[in-house]
Amino acid sequence: MSETATDSSPVIQAVAEKDVSSAVAIAGHPIHAMAVHFPIALAIATLGADVFYWWGGDPFWLRAGFWAAAFAFGTGVAASLVGTAELLLVPGIRSRAASWTHAIAAMMFVSICGMNFVLRVVAPDAVLPLGLALSGLGGVFTGLAGWHGGKLILHHGVGIMVSDQE
Ligand code: HEM
Repeated sequence: MSETATDSSPVIQAVAEKDVSSAVAIAGHPIHAMAVHFPIALAIATLGADVFYWWGGDPFWLRAGFWAAAFAFGTGVAASLVGTAELLLVPGIRSRAASWTHAIAAMMFVSICGMNFVLRVVAPDAVLPLGLALSGLGGVFTGLAGWHGGKLILHHGVGIMVSDQE
């Protein structure tokens, strides 16, 4: 059988031995994984509202986009605070480069959500085209941050807590 990088590198072996269990969880369920659905769904909802506003001009979609952008940003900040706690508290999470890749993509995503919300507060008339463009960019970064977050769990086994009863 051929030797893999994990077998040969003492650095990778040392990282692999570190604990990756979630430090911020309720009854074995990591809070970050439960929380991220809200900013993801609300950022996509903002994009949807902007597209409908562009299409039909109904001011209902302007108001819907405002609230979706506000809560995408608010829930994104909340989810990020929990994610940051995991990153800093758990040795096996903070020593993996993939965790930092996810954190950077997530911070970009939350910053775009923040910009999108502030734009709607200070210049509601600029939703077309600037808000729509920010919502499109937010959609791209939702995908990037979510993809890298999923990799942490599915490829690295981060945050998985197997119960003693299993
Ligand atoms: C600086 C901010 C963030 C940090 C440091 C961070 C860190 C983490 C960590 C450590 C995990 C592994 C699971 C856990 O230990 O709970 C994770 C999973 C994940 N994160 Fe983040 N995260 C951040 C923000 C976000 C945001 C804003 C999103 C929304 C796009 C997001 C989407 C995800 C997803 C989809 C998963 C996988 C969850 C699952 O498959 O159940 N993260 N993140």
